[in-house]
Amino acid sequence: MYRLLLFSLFLSLLGSSSNASTIGNVGSGKLSFISFFSRFWSESIAHKDGYDSVSSNLDKESALSHPKADVRRLLSSPVKASAVNRAVAAGAIGANWGSQSSHQLPPEIVVRMLRENGIQKVKLFDADYDTLRALGHSEIEVMVGIPNDMLSTLASSPKAAERWVSQNVSHHLTTNNVMIRYVAVGNEPFLETYNGSFLRTTFPALQNVQEALTKASLHDRVKVTVPLNADVYSSASSLPSGGDFRADIHEYMMPIIKLLSDNQAPFTVNIYPFISLYTDANFPVEYAFFDGNATPLNDGGTTYYNMFDANYDTLAWALQKNGFGNLPIIVGEIGWPTDGDRNANLQAAQRFNQGFMSHISAGRGTPMRPGPINAYLFSLIDEDEKSIQPGNFERHWGIFRYDGQPKYALNLGTTNSRSLVPARNVSYLETKWCIMKPNARVNDAQVAPSVSYACGLADCTSLGYQTSCGNLDAQGNISYAFNSFYQKNNQLDEACKFNGLGTITRADPSIENCRFNVMIRPYYAGAGRISLCIKKILMLVMGVTIFFLSDL
Ligand SMILES: *[C@@H]1O[C@H](CO)[C@@H](O)[C@H](O)[C@H]1NC(C)=O
Ligand SMILES: *[C@@H]1O[C@H](CO)[C@@H](O)[C@H](O)[C@H]1NC(C)=O
Ligand SMILES: *[C@@H]1O[C@H](CO)[C@@H](O)[C@H](O)[C@H]1NC(C)=O
Ligand SMILES: *[C@@H]1O[C@H](CO)[C@@H](O)[C@H](O)[C@H]1NC(C)=O
Repeated sequence: MYRLLLFSLFLSLLGSSSNASTIGNVGSGKLSFISFFSRFWSESIAHKDGYDSVSSNLDKESALSHPKADVRRLLSSPVKASAVNRAVAAGAIGANWGSQSSHQLPPEIVVRMLRENGIQKVKLFDADYDTLRALGHSEIEVMVGIPNDMLSTLASSPKAAERWVSQNVSHHLTTNNVMIRYVAVGNEPFLETYNGSFLRTTFPALQNVQEALTKASLHDRVKVTVPLNADVYSSASSLPSGGDFRADIHEYMMPIIKLLSDNQAPFTVNIYPFISLYTDANFPVEYAFFDGNATPLNDGGTTYYNMFDANYDTLAWALQKNGFGNLPIIVGEIGWPTDGDRNANLQAAQRFNQGFMSHISAGRGTPMRPGPINAYLFSLIDEDEKSIQPGNFERHWGIFRYDGQPKYALNLGTTNSRSLVPARNVSYLETKWCIMKPNARVNDAQVAPSVSYACGLADCTSLGYQTSCGNLDAQGNISYAFNSFYQKNNQLDEACKFNGLGTITRADPSIENCRFNVMIRPYYAGAGRISLCIKKILMLVMGVTIFFLSDL
């Protein structure tokens, strides 16, 4: 165990010093495998009821998470529909393109996939050079992101904000012809799980970035925004018309909203009916979807048939109540995961996302905000290194798998084929897997530490109650963990040792919906990233470390 700890420390050091999420051959070390260990074994092996009860779920609880569907008020005041011409033109559907994966698809392949799917807008969480360069000349509209950990620097230094704008906006606009349209300052910085860490820095950072854009004469082309979780507002009456910003952050919200309004910039909100269902077992399931099977919510004569509209209008009311009834709204994230929870599966994700697409395609909007809805699906591609602190579903939000293959039929209304177009020219590692030796015993003393080690550094979120691999037997569970680690480590022989318990096979161990993946080839980016040579050295160090682990 001591060696394992050292090794995990080594990996986390590596991860933070290289600043590259595509090291490819090493794990992120972000997650404590000890905690995963207790989770994995207590939850999955000891036959308890899934991960749900363990995971902290503060992260994405949405307002109106439990609408009182039976509350009917006979208020006569009609909902004011503001039909103002909005500064932010809505258009085709957008997608969030995250980068917390051990193996990213080359950005050129992703950009081509975006274009072939008619996705005309992307939202990024940083300003990765190669990603932006690949988006150059693509005519895809881009929202670049500033991670939360940069907020304090940008808040305290106008110069730092100018440098950020110069390097991450101006340069790409002028030399690479990237259609940058928005800068997202922070990402859900007011989440309760952050304990207020970014409360005081978000506004000054926003202000400095806006000033830097103005100074660079980009303020007409590029708008600032702050993607916020829907928990920044709530409704005392549980009805949209009762919407207002949360009392404890009201004073922090107001200057942000005023700045957005003064600069014709949009308010960005992330809305997640899935999280409401996840955090509240009594949430009326049908209300999360769009096909009209839910008991409608009556808000003074206005009827709400789904949680999205009600939640969106709660924000619209909150803005109106505070004097910003015309502020444009962008839905920064909306989607449904496909694995890692009993409500996360292909059918539900398809039902939700297809329902959402049909819902917004007519351009009718919501009772409070008629007109097109500007939204970005969450997410484009699965990310196997996302934190699972909010829940195991976090790594399964993609409409595409890690390798750019569509997970289910989805008609975005943008392609002739009326379905998702897979990524092309994806190159995979060899067609082989690591499994537990057929003659090894599942109660071998080395099994538990090996599995916890593999799951801590790779991805076992498809194992668990009512997930895609939830029906495996003990041997299958162990093999799944081994293979995940082996693939993440680019099929390095040493990564399938596991104290003599592992063996390599060319027969696909996948069963029914449970897929044992073959990893894609690591992508080595150019500028600004760790060099290939250093990667090779790391790989060697990794191999040696794993070798030493084998006699633990
Ligand atoms: C394998 O894992 C699944 C899900 O984690 C669990 O439900 C099942 O009980 C495990 N099987 C055995 C035999 O340990
Ligand atoms: C530009 O963005 C990248 C990626 O988010 C970041 O690492 C870099 O520090 C930024 N540049 C400046 C000058 O702040
Ligand atoms: C927030 O506070 C809780 C309890 O004090 C602590 O456990 C947690 O680590 C803190 N989170 C952050 C992001 O600081
Ligand atoms: C994809 O691969 C094929 C066959 O290897 C090649 O002819 C083609 O140029 C590639 N396309 C792209 C966009 O790389």
